[in-house]
Amino acid sequence: MADDKLIEAKAVSKAFAGVSALTEVDFQLRAGEVHALMGENGAGKSTLSKIFAGVLLADAGAVYLEGRQVRFLNTKEAAAQGVTIVSQEFSLIPDFPVAENIFLVDEAYYKKGFISNKNAMVRETYSLLKLFDMETYIDPYEHVRQLSVAQMQIVEILKAISKKARVIILDEPTAALSANEIRLLFDLVRRLKAENVGFIIVSHKINEIYEVSDRITVLRDGRLVLGGVKTTELAQTDLIKAMVGREVNNIYGVKAQTAQKFHDKKVIFEAVNICDRRGYVNNICFQVHEGEIVGISGLVGAGRTELVRCLFGADKCSKGEVIVNSKPIKANTIRKSMKNGMGFVPEDRKFDGLFQELSVSFNIAITDLIIHTFMFVNRKSQDRKCMQKAEELGIRLNNPETPVKSLSGGNQQKVLLAKWLLLEPRVLIVDEPTRGVDVGAKAEIYAILRQLAARGVAIIIVSSEIPEILGLCNQILVMREGRITGRLDAAQAQEELIGYYATIG
Ligand SMILES: Nc1ncnc2c1ncn2[C@@H]1O[C@H](COP(=O)(O)OP(=O)(O)OP(=O)(O)O)[C@@H](O)[C@H]1O
Ligand SMILES: [Mg+2]
Repeated sequence: MADDKLIEAKAVSKAFAGVSALTEVDFQLRAGEVHALMGENGAGKSTLSKIFAGVLLADAGAVYLEGRQVRFLNTKEAAAQGVTIVSQEFSLIPDFPVAENIFLVDEAYYKKGFISNKNAMVRETYSLLKLFDMETYIDPYEHVRQLSVAQMQIVEILKAISKKARVIILDEPTAALSANEIRLLFDLVRRLKAENVGFIIVSHKINEIYEVSDRITVLRDGRLVLGGVKTTELAQTDLIKAMVGREVNNIYGVKAQTAQKFHDKKVIFEAVNICDRRGYVNNICFQVHEGEIVGISGLVGAGRTELVRCLFGADKCSKGEVIVNSKPIKANTIRKSMKNGMGFVPEDRKFDGLFQELSVSFNIAITDLIIHTFMFVNRKSQDRKCMQKAEELGIRLNNPETPVKSLSGGNQQKVLLAKWLLLEPRVLIVDEPTRGVDVGAKAEIYAILRQLAARGVAIIIVSSEIPEILGLCNQILVMREGRITGRLDAAQAQEELIGYYATIG
């Protein structure tokens, strides 16, 4: 079956401002297969995906679609020939409803730029949602702005599917999805696969890749390291070695110590009866001791992000109090929280984490600016601090003036962490800290969080990855429908127990 190649790259190269992102990469996708594209942050996975989908043009080499050379100038051209991408960066319009986002400018529903048949469009959206078992989860009329990250991701995928794509590129489709949503997505992938659709999937979640992919290609520093090896014939350890160029053992390290160890330490952080204004968070109480790491687990939608946003003052509480170092922070605002030694790494780097157009240096320094209200900054010392933090976190950066948007997704996540570390917080709240981060960097982030804790910082982690919670946290709070349904000590915590409290307990 040598001639069933759906899309193919031959010796494709691409550089940005003279820096090479891809060097003579070959890649082949067959009809009806799921082909995983793997590699560290910055390896070139998104760049290759974008070249296939018409977002970027290759500098050299060629792309073939069913044996015919193509050169897509934009995503519209690619989509017209059946190639679509669901990318790391969302392309939805926040103020439009779901249905209009999916069928934007679709000729069946638009005449001269206006919607001609809204009812049919909503009906079609509904049947798409139903196909995905999502009809109770997403409302076709709802504005995208109101959706969770997970829901937005699903709308993006439905949009690609609605275009009858033959090649669907999923660039980290599951980073923001819960286990159940991932299962639904993979079911759909398998169904479309049987209809000969080909998928290129990028993900840092190795278990998933083993579950869903047929073959694996690995890039490192923009070069091909492994080309289209059968998933069943590649051991996980060899895959990781190919990606990072060295062995990574035991990324979660040892199992976290029991919370009892911290009981006679000082209470650094306390949440008392926290409620939010929208009813997603109900009477939450817990304490974090000096040097303790507390994990918040639960399903997507359980209220975890809403809770930590309240704790930090990013959203208003309707009731309750946050106490840091025995001092109540009344009517908390972000600025007050920061002044009292709290740091917060939000879940969504695009919307509230980073200024995409501005430099890495500025983004790292901004927290400092907010706190100290400096009108003038010493650019040199700002750049120096930035490079130092970047190096500590393994962000490969040639120049601190690089705009954030030109960094790979995982490296953006590290910039977000870096800017908070610079403040040396007493309490650090991190929401999904390793989303989109490669295995090597994950291990680095865990090490950083452990070091901070060892220095006495109280750490609160929201994470959907249970191994991450089990490996790092001394105390685990499980949330469901805005309440804490389970409190587990590291000594007794197990995946099944967390699952129990997250769904029924
Ligand atoms: N628009 C751009 N301008 C400048 N450099 C860029 C741009 N887009 C990507 N790069 C650089 O190209 C390299 C490859 O980036 P790419 O986004 O393809 O990585 P990736 O493998 O998708 O990583 P991640 O896992 O973090 O998403 C990186 O060094 C990145 O900084
Ligand atoms: Mg990427």
